[in-house]
Amino acid sequence: MKSTENGWDEIELYHDLQQAGLIPVHGDFFPAVHYPPITRYAPLTEEEAYAGFQLPENNTFDIYVHIPFCLKRCIFCHYPSKYNAPDEEKDRYLEALKGEMNLFLQRIGANRIRTRAILIGGGTPTDLTPKQLEYFLQYFTERAPVRDQVQFNYDVDPNSLIGPVGLERLKLLKDYGVNRLTIGVQSLNDPILKGMNRAHTAAEAIESVNNSLEAGFKVNIEFIFGFPGQTMDIWNEDIRLASTLNTDEIQLYRLKYEPYGDQVGIIKNYREKKQDNLVSVEETLRMKRSAIRILAEQGYLENLRRVYTRSKDNISRYAYNQCCRLLDQVGFGQTAFASYHDRFLLNPFSFEEYYGAIDSGRLPLNRGIVRSLSEQMRWSIILPLKNYYLPKKLFYRRTGHYLEDTPFISIIHRLIDMGLVEESDMNYTLTEQGAFFADEVTEAFYSHDYIPFPESDYLPGPLNPYNNDPGDVIYDQAARSN
Ligand SMILES: C[S@@+](CC[C@H](N)C(=O)[O-])C[C@H]1O[C@@H](n2cnc3c(N)ncnc32)[C@H](O)[C@@H]1O
Ligand code: SF4
Repeated sequence: MKSTENGWDEIELYHDLQQAGLIPVHGDFFPAVHYPPITRYAPLTEEEAYAGFQLPENNTFDIYVHIPFCLKRCIFCHYPSKYNAPDEEKDRYLEALKGEMNLFLQRIGANRIRTRAILIGGGTPTDLTPKQLEYFLQYFTERAPVRDQVQFNYDVDPNSLIGPVGLERLKLLKDYGVNRLTIGVQSLNDPILKGMNRAHTAAEAIESVNNSLEAGFKVNIEFIFGFPGQTMDIWNEDIRLASTLNTDEIQLYRLKYEPYGDQVGIIKNYREKKQDNLVSVEETLRMKRSAIRILAEQGYLENLRRVYTRSKDNISRYAYNQCCRLLDQVGFGQTAFASYHDRFLLNPFSFEEYYGAIDSGRLPLNRGIVRSLSEQMRWSIILPLKNYYLPKKLFYRRTGHYLEDTPFISIIHRLIDMGLVEESDMNYTLTEQGAFFADEVTEAFYSHDYIPFPESDYLPGPLNPYNNDPGDVIYDQAARSN
């Protein structure tokens, strides 16, 4: 690759990685959020899911709660949610959630969960009346007490934090120990927000950010780039404006056309029908690079993948614990997941199935995986390498083997040769170029069955994930210690 005045050129690197067989020929991407990807988990009963399960060290968990309600359906969104649901339906859901927490406490033989970090997401978990919000916060914090120093995050849309009701919700959140808000601003351009079918204007998004900062929350704001109709000028202006809002964190998402869970967003269909208005892959990559430069000038650096902060302390502890430290996390709610040190369990997509299980006294999980040793190895490489860096010791602790002794080391060496990964005494880390294509780079470790696109989409270069898969490696299980 030719170097430029900026060190390297993102479009040339993109083409080089296509030639190397790492990026598919159409350039689309699939986020390496979980491994294996959520839609690929097989059915599992509660007994199978918890067979041989050992409680984590100190009995401590990170917690996710899914509250699947929103005012309206955004065009880009693949998250499962119900839109404009009546209050009675939300009451029913909140009761079921409480029941699920009780069942989990029975399962682990405790009357409280020791919590490390908490994320309440959805949907829009503030799309509740203040009375419902307080009811939830009360029973949740009784069962999962919020100790000092616990990062308690709510993932919300701006519309729920403005006007008198928005201020009432903010006060309730504060009273119950919530200390961090992630606000989906998405864009600060009104025509783009309208195109996304968002329930707020740019001015309202700014109002929600200011209300949250004034109320004393740490604030993270989220943006999407590559959305149809977005130009480089619009995007650059969004990011410049975002960096003046003085939030603790700014998170950038490349538009995902492909769903990564069971729900398929409207955007997938849109891509097939309205091809003229789409932003090309090349322009999307230029938008990302441009935003990184603007944010760096304002002191925001990528301290966790696609998360830009002025201080490392501001990153999401929930994401850091789950993806970088590979610690145990439990999830409650429809489609919520538990990511444990040796297994991954998933709740149902169907509300009927979710309610049915809880009503009959069973935990509502219905799919998952107790990882084989080789899947454990892949998982232990992919998540930390993609999101932060991979400490050699962490790989050993999670697998009982030295990475250097496994077949995956040859993939690491190939990535080092391509300038995408670097090695130090203690760690493997993505280089600046590797980090720019972090999802694709870490997909080099996927097993054949889970590679996001078909074999015909990749050129036969040295990083082609189909050619590099060492298959199911067999080790002496006795060596493993989690
Ligand atoms: C659970 S979602 C939404 C949270 C909140 N309900 C909202 O609307 O602001 C979390 C974030 O994922 C991002 N996101 C959702 N769908 C996306 C897609 N198809 N492509 C890229 N980013 C997406 C958005 O930035 C969003 O704020
Ligand atoms: S982006 Fe947020 S508000 Fe929009 S549909 Fe998805 S979860 Fe709901």
